[in-house]
Formats: sequence, structure tokens, C-alpha cells
Amino acid sequence: MIKDKKNIKAEIEKIREDLHRHNYYYYEKNESLISDVEYDKLLKKLEELEAGNPEYKSKNSPTVVVGGGLKDSKFTKVTHKKPMLSLSNTYNLGDLEDFDKRVKRILNKDSIENENTQVDYILELKLDGISISIHYEDGRLIQAVTRGDGKVGEDVTENIMQISSIPKYLKKNVSIEVRGEIVLPLTEFESLNKKRLESGKEIFANPRNAAGGTLRQKDAVIVGQRNLDAYIYYLADSEELGFETHIESIKYLEYLGFKTTKIYDLCETIEYLGTRIEYWEKERNNLDYETDGLVIKVNNLSLYDELGATTKAPRWAISYKFPAKQVTTKLLDVTWQVGRTGKITPVAELEAVEVSGSMVRRASLHNYDEVLRKDIKIGDTVFIEKAAEIIPQVIKPVKELRDGTEKEIVPPTNCPVCNSILEKEEGLVNLKCMNPHCRAKLQGKMEYFISRDAMNIIGGAKIVEKFIELGFLKEISDFYELHLKKDELEKLDNLGSKSIEKLLSSIEESKKIDYSKTLYALGIPFVGKFLGGLLSRESKNIENLAVMEVEELLSIDGVGEKVAQSVYGYFRDEDNMRILKKLKDAGVNFEIEEVDERAHLEEFVGKTFLATGKLIHFKRQKSGRTRECKSSH
Ligand code: IVH
Repeated sequence: MIKDKKNIKAEIEKIREDLHRHNYYYYEKNESLISDVEYDKLLKKLEELEAGNPEYKSKNSPTVVVGGGLKDSKFTKVTHKKPMLSLSNTYNLGDLEDFDKRVKRILNKDSIENENTQVDYILELKLDGISISIHYEDGRLIQAVTRGDGKVGEDVTENIMQISSIPKYLKKNVSIEVRGEIVLPLTEFESLNKKRLESGKEIFANPRNAAGGTLRQKDAVIVGQRNLDAYIYYLADSEELGFETHIESIKYLEYLGFKTTKIYDLCETIEYLGTRIEYWEKERNNLDYETDGLVIKVNNLSLYDELGATTKAPRWAISYKFPAKQVTTKLLDVTWQVGRTGKITPVAELEAVEVSGSMVRRASLHNYDEVLRKDIKIGDTVFIEKAAEIIPQVIKPVKELRDGTEKEIVPPTNCPVCNSILEKEEGLVNLKCMNPHCRAKLQGKMEYFISRDAMNIIGGAKIVEKFIELGFLKEISDFYELHLKKDELEKLDNLGSKSIEKLLSSIEESKKIDYSKTLYALGIPFVGKFLGGLLSRESKNIENLAVMEVEELLSIDGVGEKVAQSVYGYFRDEDNMRILKKLKDAGVNFEIEEVDERAHLEEFVGKTFLATGKLIHFKRQKSGRTRECKSSH
């Protein structure tokens, strides 16, 4: 029991220390060492531990104080008139329903029918930037202060003066405090990083990191060059100033000359809030600034006092975080995959984590050179992301979280499947298995051959694996001999005669596929979909292509040395030619379908036509390598 308590105390202290460190990096260095979801998980765990063990509660716990500090500050310190609080985060509609109930419960402590109270909410974007408090006296900007630790911030007035969207004088001579977010527009962020890359400077990790770094510049001229922007979302003491709703106060801010996002959706029910959340989850990608979520605020200002605040966040507002594009998890191990060309790819085996709505356990590490360049080690906390929203990739390790137990990733010397010695191809970063009979390569080749963009044969990886194992498939041409083994195939477990029928008819269908696709399906190194199309048009049929010399191939616009050598080499390999012959004999199409235009033309010679309506199918062809289309008009 005593030992348990000791452990709990140590666990609480460890989480507090971790959270303080994350706060320091996030607020002072504008960097994230872990994703928000992971941060909130730690925070929740700490809250639970503290609630169950009240003797270990502390006034300085990250559950009580607003994160951030002023450790490295070079600026004059200013105490906020009212603390700059943070917001509690939610991640789903259920959490928002709880928030709604909580609000109504507080407002109706004495009433039983609290659930039926009408509360209007305003939905705004949560800008992912640096928060700022700006003071005006008699309509003139006098001071701008960062959030700092929430109580004391840094005076960055001189830098704020450089931001053109922040008014220096207001339309009315009022004395007010406004709060908002300093952001770097995405277009500015991209061009800034491009320039930094060109001049050999380290690039900023994200727009927030760039905005924070810029705002804390000691040289205001640099701030002026960076084109920061500012959106204001809060007018302090708005109720005292005579406003009844949050929307009214925002409209007044716009009237005074402030830039706002102009996005404030009035939501009378949580259901409607749900539909707006769905809308913004997609629409946020069309904005020129980053948002990491939405902020839901009670609209009626007269309720704010009653709702109050905790030491960290107001109870009249909450944030809804969008699913993160990048998340952090642990790299548990690295395995090595063999592709159809023999390329060896390191694959990250991860602690399961949710990314953009699905659980991810594995991610690509591309190649060993990339592992070295990014300095990734086993045991690291790593950022992962779904590239183009599909295949997860490891972006970078979080070196700050290393504890010395991380292990180097050692590349294999032998093929993990066939055990033959691996080679590193001259000039290429990839390790390769050179064994032509390697089972993994065979499997990859077959899967590629039948894929949708190639021969489009139904079946998939499982069938291929099974057929290789049973000896039905040894090379790609074997697909066209499967019909001879129909009886045997039908007897296989889990494969009824119907599915074999479907498979065989899809194989039969594949014989008619375009020449560009059959060319692509062969898996000639470097010949993807585009080159499959180009080479098919240029060669018209595979016999022509097979005899082309390197020079001839090089004379094709779009074909470089690497491709020319690869295509030339492919047709000089006896094994490839043997397989090609089998495919051709089986009836696979290896020529471009040509329409004999002259035959059609002869029908029209000497006749006059009157054309009416829109001409939609024929376009005058551009001159160049394509056939010319002469017109007498
Ligand atoms: S309202 C007491 N509205 O989010 C909270 N904050 O996580 C008053 N933020 O510190 C802030 N967009 O820097 C509010 N539309 C918005 C916001 C917003 C971004 C930031 C703000 C705040 C942080 C809390």
C-alpha cells in the first residue's frame, strides 16, 4: 500500500514535469514535442490521479496553472489586467453535449428543468497562432502584450506596430483592450521558408512556429518584412461597454477597424453545431491561415459572470479540436520490406495511434538514407502523418524526448525473405535484393501486374500469395494458364467455383486492355502510367518498342537516360522475352488501337456538309510530335 502511494506520487511528479516541459516548448519556443491529443491525454491522466489522491494536489500543477512562462524572455514584463486564460479542449460531439449540459446546469442550479433552457452558442475558428492583448487609449494603440504565463506577458508593442492589419488608430476615440491571434498567412509562410532554404537558414516547422519566432524578434524591421496578420476575437469588458451578445461586440470591433475572421456561426442547438463542425472540417483547408479547431462561445454576455472560470479556462467557452494531421507515437521497431523490384524499404512498427480517423500501426520510412538524414532511432517518439491522406509516413523524431535508451536502426545485409546478400545500386539510395527468384519480389510483381491501373484482374494479394505458394503462379504469364487448372482451383479451400469463374473471366477480359496498360503492367523499372502511355503511342506495338536502340528511345520527348537504358535492357533479357512471348501467344493486347482515318475520309471526299450545333469532339491538334491535322479553311 505504502509502496503504491510512493509510485503514484512519482507518477504524478513525472507527468507534471513532462507537461511543464511541453508547455515551455509550446508557449516559449512555439514548438510541439507531442500532438495535442497526446498532451490532453497526459493532462487528463494527471487530473484523474490528483482527484483520486488529493493529498498530492499542488498549486503549481499544470492542471491548475495556465501553461507557458517567461524563462527566455528578452522583453519588458507586463501584468495583464485580467488573466489571459486558455480553453479546455474537446475532440467529439459527445464532449460538446457534456459542455452544453454543464452550462445549463450552472445556469439553472435551482431549476429541475435545466436541460430545456435555451442557450445560444457562437462557433468561431480557433486560430493556430500566438495570442495577443492590445490596449488602446482614446482610440490610439498604446501597448501590446503576449500571453506569457497568463498573468504576466511580454511587451511587444514595437513589433506589433509593424503589422499592417492591426489598426494604430481606431474609428472612435475609445479606451479598450482587445485580444486576438497573430498568424502568418500560409502563402507568406511558404515563401518565407523557400527564401530561408535558399539562403541556407533553418526552416520554420509550421506557421505558428514562424509567427511566434517573428513576434519575439528584437529587430522590428524584420517583423515588418514578414507580413504577419492579426485576427481579433475578443473585446474585454464588453458587457460593461453596453453589449448584450458576443456577436454584437465582434461587429463593433469590425466597425472600429479590426480585422476578424468574419466567421461567427450562431448555433441554437448542439445538433446544428454538429453540422457546422462537419462543414468547417473540410472548409478549413481553403483558408489562408491555419486553424486547429473551433471555439464554441456562449453568445449572451450576461451569462459569463454566472458561468465563471476555473484557474485555467472560462466556463462560457470550449474548443473543439480538429483531428490532427500529424500525431506523435512511439517507434517500437523497424522491419524491412522487399518490393517487386527488390527495393528494401524500412517500415516503422508503431505503438497504435489514430490518424485522420483510422488506427495506424505501421508507417513508411522510405529508405535507409532518409532514416539517417532524419536521425530516427528505435524507441523515439515520432511525428507521423498520412501523406495525401492515405499512406502514413514518419515525419521526424522528437529528439528532445530521448532518454538514452534509443537504439540505432541497422540496415540488413541480407534479404529478409530469401536471405541473399543485398546490394546498394550505384547512385541510388536503395538497398536491393538482386535474387530474381526472391519470393517477395515475385509476389510484388504479380500484385502490380493485376492491379487496377494495370491488367485490372480481380483477386488481390491473398489469392496471389496462395497461388504462388501452391505453385500455380511462377511468372506473370501463368495467369493466362490458370484456366487449364480450373478443376484443381475449384477444389481449393475457401474458393468456390463461382469465385474461380469470376477470376478466370476477369483474366480473359484483361487480354483486351489498352497497350499502354499492358506496358505499364510489365513492371519495367521507371515505366509508370505516364511513360506507359507515352511509349505505347510512340511505338504503336511492342515489336517496335523491343527493337528500339537507346538513341531512338532518347529522341522521344519525355524519355531520359535512366528510362531509355531500363527499357532497352528489359528487351535484351532472355527471360523477359520468353514471358512476353507467352503473354502474346495467350492473346494479351500489345498494340495501339488505330482508327484508319483515311478509310473514313474517302467516304466524305467531294461532298459538302452544313454543320450545325456545337462542335465538341474535334479539336485542332497542336503541331509537334502528334499527327498533323490540316485544314483548308
Ligand atoms: S477566445 C479565455 N477565440 O486559443 C479564452 N481564443 O487554447 C479566450 N484562440 O489562448 C480566448 N482562436 O490564443 C478565443 N476564436 C478564438 C480563438 C482563440 C484561437 C486561442 C487563444 C487562446 C487559446 C486557448
